[in-house]
Amino acid sequence: MQFSWKKKNNMVCCMKNIIGSVTTSNGMSSVLTEISAVPITVKKDHGSTLLDEDSVALSPNGKAQEEIAVKGLESYVGTTASMEGIGIVKFLKGKRLLITGATGFVAKVLIEKILRTEPDVGKIFLLIKAKSKEAAMERLKNEIIDTELFKCLKQIHGNSFQAFMLSKLVPVVGNVCEQNLGMEINLIDEITSQIDIIVNSAASTTFDERYDLALDINTRGPLHLMSFAKRCTQLKLFLQVSTAYVNGERQGRLLEKPFSLGDSIAKEKTTSDCCPTKHLPMLDIEAEIKLAVNTKEEASQDDVVAQKMKELGLARARIYGWQDTYVFTKAMGEMVIDNMRDQIPVVIMRPSVIESTCREPFPGWMEGNRMMDPIILSYGKGQLTGFLVDPEGVLDVVPADMVVNAILAAMAKHGAAGEPGMNIYQIASSVVNPLVFQDLAKLLFEHFKSSPCIDSKGEPINVPKMKLFSSIDDFSSHMLTDTIQRLGRGSSASHEELSKRHEVVRRKSVEKSVEQAKYLANIYEPYTFYGGRFDNMNTQKLMEDMSEEEKKSFGFDVGSIDWNDYISNVHIPGLRKHVMKGRGMMS
Ligand SMILES: NC(=O)c1ccc[n+]([C@@H]2O[C@H](COP(=O)([O-])OP(=O)(O)OC[C@H]3O[C@@H](n4cnc5c(N)ncnc54)[C@H](OP(=O)(O)O)[C@@H]3O)[C@@H](O)[C@H]2O)c1
Repeated sequence: MQFSWKKKNNMVCCMKNIIGSVTTSNGMSSVLTEISAVPITVKKDHGSTLLDEDSVALSPNGKAQEEIAVKGLESYVGTTASMEGIGIVKFLKGKRLLITGATGFVAKVLIEKILRTEPDVGKIFLLIKAKSKEAAMERLKNEIIDTELFKCLKQIHGNSFQAFMLSKLVPVVGNVCEQNLGMEINLIDEITSQIDIIVNSAASTTFDERYDLALDINTRGPLHLMSFAKRCTQLKLFLQVSTAYVNGERQGRLLEKPFSLGDSIAKEKTTSDCCPTKHLPMLDIEAEIKLAVNTKEEASQDDVVAQKMKELGLARARIYGWQDTYVFTKAMGEMVIDNMRDQIPVVIMRPSVIESTCREPFPGWMEGNRMMDPIILSYGKGQLTGFLVDPEGVLDVVPADMVVNAILAAMAKHGAAGEPGMNIYQIASSVVNPLVFQDLAKLLFEHFKSSPCIDSKGEPINVPKMKLFSSIDDFSSHMLTDTIQRLGRGSSASHEELSKRHEVVRRKSVEKSVEQAKYLANIYEPYTFYGGRFDNMNTQKLMEDMSEEEKKSFGFDVGSIDWNDYISNVHIPGLRKHVMKGRGMMS
């Protein structure tokens, strides 16, 4: 580690501050070919074992929040730290990785952390969707290297920053929806003979994504990657970035347990006491893919197809006990990986809602307007004064840098061990350090009261306390009254003076705002009334394996987060800076 002193100094300074496409019939037949190349066997029925004995069975939509918070939530309490630690930095030295989803939020934070903490890592191949090599290189430069996230590395390497980055990062044109990941034939041998680790962070994260597209990326993507992994002669680990919400409509304390083919949340419910007689077909991924293809072929017009596919995804997810297409297809992705893994060591990381970095490379880095952020920003701009949410419910948030640190710790631990197996880690806060919605609402109010957004006339926007509604009807009527008042207020003419044309425009704008708010409320309802709490015992044990030094550099102690500080001083300022890009900031 020849650069260690300089590197550390700079770090401190920085810190301060199933093949083919579902959409074609060709693709369909090759899916079946690839799946059948690996025998699909339902290994065992996890149905009754997925919930811990202590789990509380709660009413749907988690009304009994107190019970969730109290019962069965004693988590693993350990205090020891391993002297030698996991050896994260040592493990990374010289390792060659293939990372997907690198133009996305999470993988970018991962790449930055690897390059900053172990510049002697080997090559990192980045699978990027692009028309040509040149276009992939452009995306690497514009969407990764040139982003503010890499400013600490820029500071560390000075003039040689670009050269350093390009000596490590190799853009590879490809697509997880395609056989051989859509890679050029001559690159396949080169990459499969070199790489030690595969990290799959590519996904469609839209909750109500079209079923065909979500299946293609989130379910068949892992399948193509596992097929690719089997050709990699040096492979030490396959790491899948999943989501804690693959637990779907389960209730209570949710353990870090794997899925196998044929599992479904609805099946668990039918095998429990609540509805033992209900008939439910076994979840069959191949049949789901066929269904998506057939339904798509039945519709002719593009917009009809899109709507049908969205509806189909939500309907299929709900039949099998998941809240939406995203988490359903991600859960099926986990099942496929489990079925195909054979001798490959696998880690499945299941973060909950990932929000801005809390510490590294600097606090508050964020990309995109995601999950709770549209609500925060609309509230700050005075456009959303209430929301459909259980006041005592919990929003399970985890900062991006903690997720990445946990990924690296798990990667080093299981990559070094090289033992075949499935290792699940939930990196989540709802058990160890719950962020309660009504507290979050207070924090938002206090933040925007002291640092209001600025309207187009340069005036501060005063926000009222956020109202929390438990019924969609109450929320809708609140939004209607509130929006009419707000948009009326914006006009200098009195109601009578408004021309008919203005009145029509105003009414349309009211309807649009209310519809948007209702859409958000509906799509978020399974999350704002979520009845599950993510146990993170494996993740806590992983932390215990780390040395004191590793805990400082690669910490992911979600229990240590001060939500007040994180939301008010880190996350919202980060959103305002990196997502709103300063628009509407205090003047
Ligand atoms: N963000 C969260 O709150 C959260 C929470 C829990 C779990 N996760 C999981 O974390 C992972 C990363 O999420 P994220 O927030 O970084 O997502 P993101 O910002 O939406 O990025 C998704 C990435 O996947 C790539 N991708 C999509 N389709 C692809 C395809 N067919 N082939 C190759 N690449 C493709 C995208 O590339 P393009 O730029 O070309 O579209 C992009 O780089 C996902 O697996 C997600 O399920 C995220």
